[in-house]
Amino acid sequence: MDKFYFYGPVKTFFKPEKEEIFRELLTYYDKIGVISGKSAIYKTGFRDFLVTTYQEKEFLFFDEVEENPSINTVIKGAKFLRKNRCEIAIGFGGGSSLDAAKAMAFFAKNEGGFYEMLSKQIVERSLPLILVPTTCGTGSEVNNYSIITDVEKADKINFSKETTFADFAVLLPEYLTFLNEEVLISTLFDAFTHAFEGYISLKANPFSDYIAEAALKNIISILKTYSECKSFDYEKALYSSSLAGFVILHTGTTLLHAFGYYLTNHKGIHHGKANALLLPVYFKMLKNSSVKKMKRLNAL
Ligand SMILES: [Fe+2]
Repeated sequence: MDKFYFYGPVKTFFKPEKEEIFRELLTYYDKIGVISGKSAIYKTGFRDFLVTTYQEKEFLFFDEVEENPSINTVIKGAKFLRKNRCEIAIGFGGGSSLDAAKAMAFFAKNEGGFYEMLSKQIVERSLPLILVPTTCGTGSEVNNYSIITDVEKADKINFSKETTFADFAVLLPEYLTFLNEEVLISTLFDAFTHAFEGYISLKANPFSDYIAEAALKNIISILKTYSECKSFDYEKALYSSSLAGFVILHTGTTLLHAFGYYLTNHKGIHHGKANALLLPVYFKMLKNSSVKKMKRLNAL
C-alpha cells in the first residue's frame, strides 16, 4: 500500500438533539453571528429556534449570502461579524452559505484584501464556526473549501486554508425536507459527483476510496428508491453528502467540476444540475480512456 494521509478535523454531529447540542456548543459565547441566505433560515424555523430557545444569547443575523457568493459579500459579512464583535459564527444553508461563512469567519480575524489573504501563508485563526447544512450536496461542512465567485472575472476561486475548516458541523436531516424536488435531486447529484470524482482522482487513497464507495452506493440506492416509489431517504442523503465532502477533502474534484463551474458562471445553471448534465459524456470519456477504476465502479 502506498503512503497516504487521512484526516477530518471537524467535529460532526449526526442527528443530534438539536436543543442540547447548540446549548453545549454555544455555552461560552454571548454574541453569535448567524450567516445565511435570504430564505431557508426563515422557512425552516431555524432563526426562531435560536432566538426563542436561547433567549440569554444575542444573535446577530447576516442573511445576504447569494447563490455563488461573491468576494464583496464575503468582505461585507466579515465586517458585520467584526463590527458586532461576534464571538462565534453559525453558517446555515446550502453550499453557498456554508462556503461564505467559512471565508467570513476567516476575514473576521484576518483584515486584508481577498487575493492578498489568498496568497498569505501565515494567518490568524478564524472565528469559531458551526456549520448546519440544509442541502444534501455540498459536503462543505466537513472540508475547508470555500468557493467564492469573482464576479468581474466570472471565475470561481477556492479560498481554502488550514484555518478555513469549521469547528463543528451539525447534521439535521429535518432541514432537507424544506427543499423542492429539483434542488433536492440537483444537490444529491453534486454529492454523487464529489464521491465519483474523488474515487477516480489520482489523489485517491484507500481511505477516500472506502468512503467514496459507501457514499456512491448510498446515493445510487436513494435515487433508485426515489425513481421507483418517490420516497426520499433524507437521513441517508445528508450522511452521504458529508461522506462525499470528506472524500474531496482528500482528493479535490476533477475536470467535471471545472466544466460544471463554466456552465454555472456563464449559463446560470445550478451547480449540481450542471454536473449532472455533464456526467454522461464524462463517463464516456473515462470509459474510452480505459480508466481502471471505472471497472471497479461497475461492481458496486
Ligand atoms: Fe460540487
